[in-house]
Amino acid sequence: MEPRIFITGVTGFVGGTILDRLYKHHPNIRVDALIRKETDATQLASTYPNLTPIIGTLASLSLLKSAAAAADFVIHVGGDNIPAVCAMMDGLASSLSINKGSSPSPRLISLTGIRSLIDLSLPITGVARSGSRPWSDIADLDTILQFPKTRMHAEADQAILAHSAAQGVGTMLVSPGQLWGQGKGVLKKESHSAFYYATVKSRGRAFVIGDGSVPWSWSSTGDLGDAVVFLMEQAIMSGDERREQVGVNEQGYYFVRSGEVSLMERAKFVSERLGLGEVESVSVEAAKEIHPFGHIMFGCGETTRADRLTKLGWAPKELDWKALMEEEGGQRA
Ligand SMILES: NC(=O)c1ccc[n+]([C@@H]2O[C@H](COP(=O)([O-])OP(=O)(O)OC[C@H]3O[C@@H](n4cnc5c(N)ncnc54)[C@H](OP(=O)(O)O)[C@@H]3O)[C@@H](O)[C@H]2O)c1
Repeated sequence: MEPRIFITGVTGFVGGTILDRLYKHHPNIRVDALIRKETDATQLASTYPNLTPIIGTLASLSLLKSAAAAADFVIHVGGDNIPAVCAMMDGLASSLSINKGSSPSPRLISLTGIRSLIDLSLPITGVARSGSRPWSDIADLDTILQFPKTRMHAEADQAILAHSAAQGVGTMLVSPGQLWGQGKGVLKKESHSAFYYATVKSRGRAFVIGDGSVPWSWSSTGDLGDAVVFLMEQAIMSGDERREQVGVNEQGYYFVRSGEVSLMERAKFVSERLGLGEVESVSVEAAKEIHPFGHIMFGCGETTRADRLTKLGWAPKELDWKALMEEEGGQRA
């Protein structure tokens, strides 16, 4: 029988994509989805067979616990939320026969992101740092999992993995960089890259902080969805030997990465597409006025190596970032 998945965040950009990819790879899969609004629940239930909406929010901890207890696998895509993810883990733990002495079986994926790699104690310049190198999710894992809790995602990442270990549940944190391409779900199809495109269009100039040489690692939304489904398959649809190769908890942090694009490359490409002139260099303060996180979005960048997924044999398929920007009408950059 097909596994039963409990998933949150399915009305969102990433969660909608993961839901779509689950059905693409496993048309008969059974999905219980936490959804806030009745109208969204009706639309998703009429799109996907065997999808059971569970109306509630991430604050409904007893609901999350019981829904997770009934599932073979949980995928959380509703943002950093320690109590919610811990409640789902408690549910999984209550339904598993856990042998505390053995390595926990992988049972939960929680989405995080690479903004934890940004060290905001350094000046934001938009300029690539000399000697900076990609972060590996194998070689640099200890550092990544011990970042100061003030960094984005760090507190949630650490608390989730600590609770997983305490409960004997295997958790994988999946950490994409910038996401290029349209969302594959039926509801939210655009995210940050649509914001940059719209801002450039309304200002009449593409912009960066400094010289924009700082690069971000990126992947396509579709590849991220495929990577999550791949990890779920390795976790619960493969043999014991394979399952044991899937790192969880203190070994359970997975980058998803296809390539790198510098902020200047992105700015030049959108400028060309919109027929605009030279790219403008803006100050950190001006970037903050454009968006509260503008200094981070337009002035920082970090690169990654998805060593853990590569080791398991997964590789991204969509490698042409310009094609992803222009996909389906392409109002994104
Ligand atoms: N977008 C990116 O470029 C990107 C890049 C890297 C990592 N990520 C990570 O991916 C995850 C999802 O991001 P996203 O961009 O897909 O976000 P999003 O589009 O804003 O979607 C968030 C989802 O979570 C749901 N949600 C939020 N608060 C909730 C609550 N209190 N109760 C129930 N549901 C709630 C939303 O439901 P409603 O529709 O009802 O609001 C929606 O389904 C995050 O962890 C993010 O850090 C995203």
